[in-house]
Amino acid sequence: MGIEFFEEDRIFKLDTPRSSYIISIVDEENFIGHAYYGKKCRDHHLGYLCRTKEAPFVPSKNARDRLSFLDAFPFEYSTHGLGDYRESCISVKAPGGQSAVSFGYTGHRIYKGKPKLEGLPATFGTEEECSTLELYCEDKVLNMEATLFYSVFEDTDVIARSVKITNKGKEPFYLTKALSACLELDDQDFELLTMHGSWARERKIQYRKVGYGQQSVASLRGESSHQDHPFIALKAGDATQERGDVYGMHFVYSGNFFAQAEKNQFDTVRAVMGINPKDFCWKLGEGESFQTPEAVLVYSSEGIDGMTTSLHKLYRKHLIRGEYRNKKRPILINNWEATYFDFNTEKLLQIAKQASELGIEMLVMDDGWFGKRNDDNTSLGDWDVNEEKLEGGLKHLVDEVNRLGMKFGIWFEPEMISPDSELYRVHPDWAIAVPGREPGRARNQYVLDLSRKEVREHTYESIAKILRSANIEYVKWDMNRPLSDIGSVKLEADRQGELFHRYVLGVYELQERLITEFPHLLLENCSGGGARFDPGMLYYSPQIWCSDDADAIERLSIQEGTAMIYPLSTMGAHVSDCPNHTVGRVTPFETRGYVALAGTFGYELDVTKIPQEDREQIPEQIKMYHKYNDLVREGEYYRIASYSVNKEYDCYMVVSEDQREALVTFVQVLNRPNWKSRRIKLKGLSAELDYAVEGEGEVYAGDTLMNAGILIENPWGDFKGKLIHLTAR
Ligand code: DGJ
Repeated sequence: MGIEFFEEDRIFKLDTPRSSYIISIVDEENFIGHAYYGKKCRDHHLGYLCRTKEAPFVPSKNARDRLSFLDAFPFEYSTHGLGDYRESCISVKAPGGQSAVSFGYTGHRIYKGKPKLEGLPATFGTEEECSTLELYCEDKVLNMEATLFYSVFEDTDVIARSVKITNKGKEPFYLTKALSACLELDDQDFELLTMHGSWARERKIQYRKVGYGQQSVASLRGESSHQDHPFIALKAGDATQERGDVYGMHFVYSGNFFAQAEKNQFDTVRAVMGINPKDFCWKLGEGESFQTPEAVLVYSSEGIDGMTTSLHKLYRKHLIRGEYRNKKRPILINNWEATYFDFNTEKLLQIAKQASELGIEMLVMDDGWFGKRNDDNTSLGDWDVNEEKLEGGLKHLVDEVNRLGMKFGIWFEPEMISPDSELYRVHPDWAIAVPGREPGRARNQYVLDLSRKEVREHTYESIAKILRSANIEYVKWDMNRPLSDIGSVKLEADRQGELFHRYVLGVYELQERLITEFPHLLLENCSGGGARFDPGMLYYSPQIWCSDDADAIERLSIQEGTAMIYPLSTMGAHVSDCPNHTVGRVTPFETRGYVALAGTFGYELDVTKIPQEDREQIPEQIKMYHKYNDLVREGEYYRIASYSVNKEYDCYMVVSEDQREALVTFVQVLNRPNWKSRRIKLKGLSAELDYAVEGEGEVYAGDTLMNAGILIENPWGDFKGKLIHLTAR
């Protein structure tokens, strides 16, 4: 494992536990070629896969057909404008106005560990856990230097990539595109796996055949978005959930992104990922550098399941930080769907009192506690407690909640400003806007210009002041609209193209500051549900609100997509009231509990008003949470059946690392009349162990459970669920 350089062959070999990645330096011009990525190979002599001996050869041997070479060679980091007509990773506006870039290798450094990316979220690991290759290259004409970073992990099949570009010349130039990673593969009848969505319908899985031409997903909304997700995977045509080649790319970033697969004339596929080049233009003065965010590459020969396991491990061990990363999270009750804006101290304490008696551990006060915010038209930016609602002040409420034995959490939307706010009346120029145009409103609010230091300073102080004023142990950081009308009064004309990225850097700076000053705080990110559920935000908060749609059935597919690439410990999931506020569906309280158990678990309802028979189930659900959460949080997740595919039932399971315990969740969505029981083949167990099924007295051999499976009787009714708990004997 690790990284090696074979000088004679000019080959770099990067190994993870089960994959190899091979880079070949080619020709006198030192082109950096991508030779191989896939199942582990012992040998490093794989440079031949760059096909430099076939026509059109390399330029030094065939200058006549230089363009044909450039348009066919598998580049590690594709450049622009000189004859490679496929998607480039970089382009510039040079002092003379030209856009071309070309890189040749100049040197490298290999070392243990992994560097931090300044101001950006990134995966991390100790010197024992990972090693890094820095590949140096330059464009002599532009006086530009680039460092391609590759870090490999010892315990998971992931390679983290990013790029740093430096202006070594005197004159400034502009980066008009700076992607983070490029991957070239021979086509394997690939299907492109992406996730699409909308508000209340996030991260729905989509497969499409990779055809000739370009197929992409992207965001220009200033956030990773409800609509597209900063993730793509190429699944070989013959690969399945359990077997075959899958290549994933996931972007550790929370703003505009672009990810694309392009099949070319020779049936090779180039996949790229990075900051969306649209509306991006970054000025680099003499000696200045631009660091791209990180993209993580994952290879699995064990189908989608293998990719899931590697990403889960990466995020649990090498991305999420802080006190709660391996800890059970307090069971919370959030008052949003219980009261919306209509609450006061008395109402919140009534909820808290009942909740604490039932075993709920934390009250979260959502939107509406500040300024004059009795609806969503006002007061964002005025982070002063509304004492008409919270009589006696915030500290009084928090103390009372603490006296009930519960923790207290609070909601903020720090990035926003209402046109109807004291803050806007004093600082109208703090909103992102294009001069001469009234900025578009969404939820009747504008976005704060977090590229400005004074705006960040004020924003931080307003929320920190509240957090310092009482014993607040949790923050829900919300963001309820995308960016538009991109313009900052503080940026010079030739730097307006930096605003989108500077905004994201501003958000990261604020969250880093927050968790540094309040290291015991549990931070949950949220964006109108799950519009900013991405690896970037996970670096700051161990959990993210998955979706505003808490209907148990809708959640099956939302959580299926999310869990394919994120650990269950990150998925904010609550039991909500019925008829469900988003879809009007009525589902059994029991099933709502089973589905929420797959995530962080909590309640989003007025516990004083729900039917008595539902309330009576809460202590039992809480018992289950305490019993199963270690397993759910830390176990390996396996998808067994997908309701989105079969339209009838959903089934997934988690297995403890030592394979001695497993929990299967089965939800029948629609009952099928006159039908046989469902046969479920389990996964991830030990073939050698025997497992007892809790409550049934049956004992099965592990291999029987996996190869022959078990039968689950059709429950009578729709939306019925079942948990099956297995323990090794
Ligand atoms: C959107 C969030 O997703 C909800 O949970 C809630 O916090 C509202 N915003 C409050 O405005």
